[in-house]
Amino acid sequence: MSATLLDRGPVLLVGADGQLGTELRKALAARGVVPLMSALHGRLPDGGSARACDLSVPGALAALVAELKPAVVLNAAAYTAVDRAESEPALARRINADAVGELGAVARAVGAVVVHYSTDYVFAGDGSRPYREDDAPGPVSVYGRTKLEGEQALAASGAEAVTFRLAWVYAAHSANFLRTMLRVGAEREHLRVVADQIGAPTPAHWIADASLRALEAGARGLYHLAPQGETSWHAYAEAIFAGAVSRGLLPRAPVVEAIASTEYPTPAARPAWSVLDSGKLARDAGLRLGHWRKGLDEVLDQLATAS
Ligand SMILES: NC(=O)c1ccc[n+]([C@@H]2O[C@H](COP(=O)([O-])OP(=O)(O)OC[C@H]3O[C@@H](n4cnc5c(N)ncnc54)[C@H](OP(=O)(O)O)[C@@H]3O)[C@@H](O)[C@H]2O)c1
Repeated sequence: MSATLLDRGPVLLVGADGQLGTELRKALAARGVVPLMSALHGRLPDGGSARACDLSVPGALAALVAELKPAVVLNAAAYTAVDRAESEPALARRINADAVGELGAVARAVGAVVVHYSTDYVFAGDGSRPYREDDAPGPVSVYGRTKLEGEQALAASGAEAVTFRLAWVYAAHSANFLRTMLRVGAEREHLRVVADQIGAPTPAHWIADASLRALEAGARGLYHLAPQGETSWHAYAEAIFAGAVSRGLLPRAPVVEAIASTEYPTPAARPAWSVLDSGKLARDAGLRLGHWRKGLDEVLDQLATAS
């Protein structure tokens, strides 16, 4: 437990160049931990280098873990192109499920603890109260199915592991809804955003910090990790624009028209109800994220400071 686990031996951060991987690097640095890192092409956005490791190649991640023998593996890599996954199911399954099972097997062999991330998309989205870890999954997309298979493969491997299901992740960098809204909001006076999908936007820096704390507190198994409150994509967009205008990030807010999901068809179906109940993490690890609006304020403040 505690800082001692991250100090026990090398920490390997897989997917160090992604949205969450970037925040995990910062959260580790804040703890004085310099991780070993891997990225698909071995390059990091800040010009730094990492080991190149392609999770679509069978055995590649397992070979890296066997070579480095880390005490902890943080797996922030995933096939996250939700719509493209519908036409690339084999590749999505290879990265999100098969590679995770292989990671579990090698982690068990070398005695590494695995921290893994999954998604609200494992659920059908037809719930009416926040989803708990023991609610039946029922993914409605290839991405959701492959992420569920990854959870199950890791659990079946017998490795010491913790998996956090996340939803609506964003940061001041990388590709996400907030950055898309700020870009199109600067270009257009009128936007249409779906109002019938409900969830809780979660800052990646909250996830990074909370998942390391939970790891140190001894959380193992499956946990939902989401902020308090809930909103629709439409109301979230309006909150982004109000916060951006008040910080001078945008000169004016566009009109945001509320539409139904049926008016914005996508290749992959999305769960309508994506609210996750994080009570188990609060009970087991004493951890509770703040309200999603506070998270949005923090990320917009980061953008305002950087601009
Ligand atoms: N974003 C969300 O809203 C959300 C919601 C729920 C759960 N999650 C989960 O949270 C975790 C982190 O997601 P994120 O938001 O940080 O996604 P992200 O920014 O798309 O990061 C995914 C990372 O995986 C890497 N990757 C993709 N294919 C790879 C391959 N074949 N080999 C090695 N690396 C590969 C990507 O590298 P490249 O950039 O070089 O392709 C990137 O570094 C994932 O497990 C995701 O399923 C995300």
